[in-house]
Amino acid sequence: MRLKLPQIIGHRGAAGYAPENTLESIHTAADMGVEWVELDVKLTKDQVPVIFHDETLERTTNGSGLVAEATYEDLRQLEAGSWFSDGFAGIKIPTLEEAVDVLLERGLGLNLEIKPCPGRERETAEVALDVLSGIWDDHERLLISSFQHVSLEAARDMAQDWARGLLIAEEDVLANWRDLADYLDVKTVHIGSRLLTRELVEDISDEDYGVLVFTVNEPDEARKFQSWGVDSLFSDRPDVVKESLLTVH
Ligand code: G3P
Ligand code: MG
Repeated sequence: MRLKLPQIIGHRGAAGYAPENTLESIHTAADMGVEWVELDVKLTKDQVPVIFHDETLERTTNGSGLVAEATYEDLRQLEAGSWFSDGFAGIKIPTLEEAVDVLLERGLGLNLEIKPCPGRERETAEVALDVLSGIWDDHERLLISSFQHVSLEAARDMAQDWARGLLIAEEDVLANWRDLADYLDVKTVHIGSRLLTRELVEDISDEDYGVLVFTVNEPDEARKFQSWGVDSLFSDRPDVVKESLLTVH
């Protein structure tokens, strides 16, 4: 059965308006009426799942170096808001559990992207899903995705009935989407916007997979993808994109 998805999924929360992958970003998305958000999860050195995008700390915190070499205590000392704007100074990198608390409080669905540090593809999926299994019940509003096939394999082996999505941003991977989607037993295929074509949307939909596209921030582009029959758009600016779409009931 197809997963029922919203037209728009807030990317890293609502990354256009608040520091990505933070509790504030989730709240901002919820305040805009977004129904689901996408968040990236990876492990600290001591195996705590945290919501964070990059392999390194420089871009979005006042720290430096690899996330894979930082303990949870190390990350707790860092500040993850002022790179975005002074108004967010002092906010922290959230754990997966802290993020889920806010999602439940605000009634949001979750696309959790497994974003492992290199070499930790299986472990990241296993630890994140293990934590999630204790705190998330609503499987109609949960989608586990990854670019990493080993992470999706681990998710499939651990929690076969949780919906999975295959992320694709490269042409050579796209050429094999059918075999990969079949092998990984996914419900959805998520494609980078520059690779997507109308024909591809039709092909993927014909095989009964959901089609998602990332990351769409411009109204014209959003309308184009909607007219092609894309199921959901990831957006940093969900309010702008939502405004531009026709409402489908
Ligand atoms: O899950 C969609 C999108 O988040 C994938 O790319 O780099 O923003 O995690 P990235
Ligand atoms: Mg992501």
